[in-house]
Amino acid sequence: MEVHDNELFLGGVSVKSLVREFSTPLFVYEEETLRRRARELLNAISYEIKEIKYACKANSNIEIMRIFREEGMGIDAVSPGELYAAFKAGFEPSQIMLTANNATMEEIEYAVSNKVMVNIDSISQLHLFGNRHPGIEICIRINPNVGAGHHDHCITGGSESKFGIDFTEVDEIKRVAGRYKLRIKGIHQHIGSGILQPDIFIEAMEVLLAVAEKFENLDFIDFGGGIGVPYREDEERIDVGLLGKKITEYFKGFCKKYGKELKLVIEPGRYLVAEAGFLLAEVTSVKNGSRHRFVGINTGFNHLVRPVMYGAYHRILNATNFNGTPLPQVIAGNLCESGDTFTRDQNGIVDISLPSFKEGDIVCICNAGAYGYSMASNYNARPRPAEVLVGGGRARLIRRRETIEDIFASCLFQV
Ligand code: LLP
Repeated sequence: MEVHDNELFLGGVSVKSLVREFSTPLFVYEEETLRRRARELLNAISYEIKEIKYACKANSNIEIMRIFREEGMGIDAVSPGELYAAFKAGFEPSQIMLTANNATMEEIEYAVSNKVMVNIDSISQLHLFGNRHPGIEICIRINPNVGAGHHDHCITGGSESKFGIDFTEVDEIKRVAGRYKLRIKGIHQHIGSGILQPDIFIEAMEVLLAVAEKFENLDFIDFGGGIGVPYREDEERIDVGLLGKKITEYFKGFCKKYGKELKLVIEPGRYLVAEAGFLLAEVTSVKNGSRHRFVGINTGFNHLVRPVMYGAYHRILNATNFNGTPLPQVIAGNLCESGDTFTRDQNGIVDISLPSFKEGDIVCICNAGAYGYSMASNYNARPRPAEVLVGGGRARLIRRRETIEDIFASCLFQV
């Protein structure tokens, strides 16, 4: 992202020309940032037998997934839909694991028939799975009773979490797996999302390594994802170099004790894509209400749900008048709900001091690459935006804009 003459450029392309060519609302991704984050993480862990599995729930655009394949990553998938996208992006089944929660046997069958390893999430699933596929290799998701995340909804370890098998149930896991001759090749945990404190990763890692000791002949240990990114201008970036160093140290120590060099796996989503993505929209109206100045734009929580769902902060820029006079403003979406504003915190609407906006200005919502499009909906029967990849002064469409016909294509009706 750069600013020239008061105007924003993404990947070397002016935002005005992006809007002229592709219209709004529009998701734009900077290829260089995607690759930089990928390389940063790969280099942060010096332990050689490692795999980074991109958690494509963060953004399952097939072209973005293909870029991460080029960078040497695998895929963490949660559904047949994500497996389908991974195959389209050229991943081999051996590079993918299915970590589905409360999945149906049909969903799991889709993975097995495509030779993708399944990460088992409950003892009950272990029975069902073992019955159908005795003797097969599996991974087990452990709840280490350590959890963290930027919001309650995103804490996936600990007593309130529906994920994984409690770390105290190792004997039962082994007993049930033994009954069906299932071969436990890996153990896994994912404690939450949007974590900026390195210590909590290490705390959870210690629990999982203590659990791992109790399983014989593992091939890998997967420590999940969760690395946060700075959304606020004053938030500190997590030192992934330091985190990688600590992880390597602990893991090497463990492998020595275990008597085998295992594969170290992590599965970040947000860290790889959040900062590369921007949501561009146009100002459609400006209104001075009794308490707030509402800047209305042509997108809403149907395209970026994080502010209304988590009170999440996203930096907002005036892409066509970057240095305009700052004013307290509310950036409001175009949906028929009062909660549809992009300037919020956990208690509701907030005014944010932003360069003044006028009709026709282009609004740029930053850090929209993760959990933006992938959580988008057709609420209010509005099509989802197009997606564009930018880099080196060029822009390429990587997903066309949905049409109204697309929205209703699956409706069966009689006239
Ligand atoms: N692995 C598993 C098993 C997961 O459930 C997740 C995220 C990840 C990896 C990747 O986590 P990440 O590295 O992206 O933090 N919609 C929320 C985030 C939900 C994350 C769910 N699981 C948000 O917009 O903040």
